[in-house]
Order: sequence, then structure tokens, then C-alpha cells
Amino acid sequence: MPESNDIFEIMSTMRAMRRLKPDPVPDELINKILQAGQWAPSGGNTQRWRFLVIKDREIKKKVQVYYKRLFDESVGPRYASSAPPPGSDAAPYKRQHPAVEYLTDHYHEAPVWIVACLEDGENPGRTAGSSIYGAVQNMCLATRALGLGTTLTTRHTGYGKEVDAIFGLPPGAHSYAILPIGWPMGNFGKLGRGPLKDVVYGDQWGKPYAGL
Ligand SMILES: Cc1cc2nc3c(=O)[nH]c(=O)nc-3n(C[C@H](O)[C@H](O)[C@H](O)COP(=O)(O)O)c2cc1C
Repeated sequence: MPESNDIFEIMSTMRAMRRLKPDPVPDELINKILQAGQWAPSGGNTQRWRFLVIKDREIKKKVQVYYKRLFDESVGPRYASSAPPPGSDAAPYKRQHPAVEYLTDHYHEAPVWIVACLEDGENPGRTAGSSIYGAVQNMCLATRALGLGTTLTTRHTGYGKEVDAIFGLPPGAHSYAILPIGWPMGNFGKLGRGPLKDVVYGDQWGKPYAGL
């Protein structure tokens, strides 16, 4: 189902869509996604998020150079040697590699990026991200609900200083995620996750939760 208003359908089919068409996305849809982001909670309702909408290909290309460098330096080798995550096995995990590589090479071709930034001061503490990732998830869900594709990406933070300078961020503001958004080439599908019973405990860490 490409579009949906059923939140459980949306959550359970919101795959990381790494193959995106370069076709334009109407501003009206991007505005809905941004609104969904702004509806998120933030600590003390401070709303110190700032959302950059990037369409300029030159700016995206400059960032893609760092994104690719990080793939070559660490992400690519790690993917090649790591075990499949829970709920996956060798075959689907192997299929994920070319998709990750595809997004790496075509990052800047996604027609729109939303960069989620936070005015979090010079030395953000351990909870800083909690006031932006709710907004990021809201935007991912809205994107999926509209039939558009995206992937929550944070790899660029490996060169965070350099990338934030490309975006013109002032001191005390940092980018936390880049959402490359476009019409998906593939289909939304069922997610691969491990059994719920493996991650839910009852009353004490390690004790089975009888409610499942
Ligand atoms: C904090 C975070 C950072 C991520 N960064 C990247 C990234 O930089 N590049 C990328 O291709 N995917 C990135 N992902 C996507 C994950 O790889 C993806 O959510 C995971 O493999 C599950 O994929 P699925 O939802 O399609 O099953 C990130 C996800 C999260 C939650």
C-alpha cells in the first residue's frame, strides 16, 4: 500500500528506502512532513529544532563527498564483516549492502533533504538528541504516510564539523540527521525485526514478561 493513514500499517512497513527517484516532490508534501516534525515533543517544550530544506544540488554534492568518504573509511568494511541483525539472516542482510552503497553514491540525487538541526549549545549533553529524534521519527512516518521514501541517516556526523559548515550552521547548533526524501523506486514492505520476547522483560531485567 503506497499511501496510508493507518499508523500501525505505516510503522510496520516503513522500510529504509534508499533507492529514490530524482523526480521533484511538491512543496505541499514537504510542508506536511515539516509540520509533522514540529508536532513532536521536546524537553521543556523548548522547540530548539531548526529544519533545513535542501534542494541545492551543489550543497548536497558537497555533503555526499563526506558521506562517501565515511562509507569507504568505516561503514563499507563494517557491513562486509558484521553479522546479520536480529530478525534478518544472511540473504536479506547481503541484499542491504548494495542498497546502502546505492544511497551512498546517489545521496545528493534525492530531490529534497530535510536536515534536522538543534540549537543545543557548544557542548550538548547526553539527552540532547532526545529533543530532536522525536521530530525526526515523526517526519519519517509522515513521509511514509504520503507514499514517499526516506532513510534516517546520521553517517555525516562522522564529519559533523565540516558538514555543519557546509550548511552554514552557527556556533551552538548541530545537525543530527539528514532525511533524503523522494519517490521510492521499490515497494514498502514488512520489516525484519527480532522476536519481541527477546527484548521485553517483566519487572526485572532478564525476567520473561508474561503479557506477551
Ligand atoms: C540512528 C540511525 C542512523 C542511521 N544512519 C544511517 C545512515 O547514515 N545511512 C543509511 O543508509 N542508513 C542509516 N540508518 C538506517 C538503518 O540502517 C535502518 O533503519 C536499519 O537498517 C533498519 O532498516 P529497515 O527499517 O529497512 O529494516 C540509520 C538508522 C538510525 C536509527
